[in-house]
Amino acid sequence: MEKLQSIRGTKDILPDSIYFWQFIFDKFKGISNQFNYKEIRTPIFEKTEVFHRSIGETTDIVNKEMYTFLDRGGESITLRPEATAALVRSVIQNSLLHESNLLRLWYFGPFFRYERPQKGRLRQFHQYGAELHGSPFPEADAETIFLAIALIKSIGISKFKLLINSLGNENSRQIYRKELIKFLQENENHLSQESQVRMQTNPLRVLDSKEERDIEILQNAPIILNFLDEESNLHFDTLKKILQSQEINFEIDTKLVRGLDYYSHSVFEFRSTMLGSQDSFGGGGRYDNLFEQLGGKQTPAVGFAFGIERLLLILENANLLPNAANAPDYYVISQNIEYIHYVNKITNILREKGKSVITDVSRKSLKAQLRDANKLNVSTVIIIGEDEFKNNQFTLKNLDTSEQKILEFNSIQNL
Ligand code: HAM
Repeated sequence: MEKLQSIRGTKDILPDSIYFWQFIFDKFKGISNQFNYKEIRTPIFEKTEVFHRSIGETTDIVNKEMYTFLDRGGESITLRPEATAALVRSVIQNSLLHESNLLRLWYFGPFFRYERPQKGRLRQFHQYGAELHGSPFPEADAETIFLAIALIKSIGISKFKLLINSLGNENSRQIYRKELIKFLQENENHLSQESQVRMQTNPLRVLDSKEERDIEILQNAPIILNFLDEESNLHFDTLKKILQSQEINFEIDTKLVRGLDYYSHSVFEFRSTMLGSQDSFGGGGRYDNLFEQLGGKQTPAVGFAFGIERLLLILENANLLPNAANAPDYYVISQNIEYIHYVNKITNILREKGKSVITDVSRKSLKAQLRDANKLNVSTVIIIGEDEFKNNQFTLKNLDTSEQKILEFNSIQNL
C-alpha cells in the first residue's frame, strides 16, 4: 500500500528538534513571567465570524488563506489564522477585564493559513504572542516592545531590525486613505494587476506591495505620518521617545501597514537578514477598536506575535541552536532477563532521586546494551551480572575511563 504523507505546508516536529522548541518555550515562559504576563490557551478553532469581523473582509488572510469549513451541524468554523481576535473573544466572554482593568496575556501554539508553502512559510505554523489589554497609552506599546526584545535576546538572537510606523487614529486614517486613493487612481495604469485590485478593496495594503513597479511608484505616494492629527502624533512621538530613552534601535518605515485591518496607532515588525524573502519574524501593534468590533466595550489594546519556525531558522542560520539535551545519567545493564526486578528496583530509586535512567527492554545481550549506552553518550553504566544479583550489589562503570567498582545495593542512594 502507498505510504501516507503529511499535508503540504505542515511539518512533523521530530524528536531531533523538539529540544529546540522546548528551549524556546521555556525561555519565553520565563521572560513572560518576569513581565507578569499570564498564559492563556484558547481553542484552535473558532466561529468564522470571529476572524471575519476582526482581521477584515478584504485582507489576504480572510480572503484566501483561512481554513474554513462547515461542521456537521452546519456551522461555519475556522482554524485560527492568528490569536489576537480569539483572545479578545475569550476576554469578553469570560469577563476577564471586569476583575482588573488591565490584562497581560501570552500564548504559544499552532496557527493555520492556506499560503503557498516556502522556506519560513507554512500552512500550520506556530506563534508565541503577547497582548496587553486596557491601556491607551504609548507606555503600553513600549512595554510590549520591551517584552518582545527581551524574548528575542533570551534565545540568543542579537541581530535584528525593528521597524515602526503609526497608522494614527480612525480620523487620521480616513483622511490619509482618501489622499492615498487619489494618488493611486492617478497612477492606476502603472500599478501591478494585484495593486489595481487592492486599491479598490484595501488601499493601504498597496503600500505593502513587493512588485518592483509598484515600489517605484509608491516612492511618491503620500506618507501617512504627515496626516496624523495631534492625538496620533503625540502617541507616536511619546513611543519613540520611550524607545530612544532605553537605547532601542528602530527604523521608521512609513509604508509598514501590516496584513490585518484591526490596527490603529503604532504598528511594528521585527526583521532578520538570516531569513531570505520571508524576513519578518514577528510583528504587532495597537488595536483600540477590536473589542467593540467583537461585541465588547471599547478597550484599548496592543500586542505582537513571533513565528516560532522563523525564530528557529534564524537560530539555525546564525549557528545559535543550543546543544541538545544531555544524555541519560545512567544505563542499568542486565546480564540476564531473570534480574529484571532487581534492575527495575535500582532504576526506580534513581528516577525518584531525579536522575535520568534507561534500561534495556528488548532483551539485548550485555554487549549490545553496552553498545547502546555508548551510542546514547551515557558515561556511567550500572551492570547487574550474576554475582551482583546474588550478592545484592551492583557494578558502577565509567565508560569514559573504563574505571569500575562493585558497590552494595544501599549505596544507590549516594549516586
Ligand atoms: P502576523 O504578522 O500575521 O501577526 O504574524 C506574526 C508572525 O507569525 C509573522 O511575523 C511570522 O513570523 C509568523 N507567521 C505568519 N504567517 C506564517 C506562515 N504562514 N508560516 C510561518 N510563519 C508565519 C499576527 O498574527 C498578529 N496576531 C500579531 C499581533 C498580536 N498583533 C497584535 N497582537
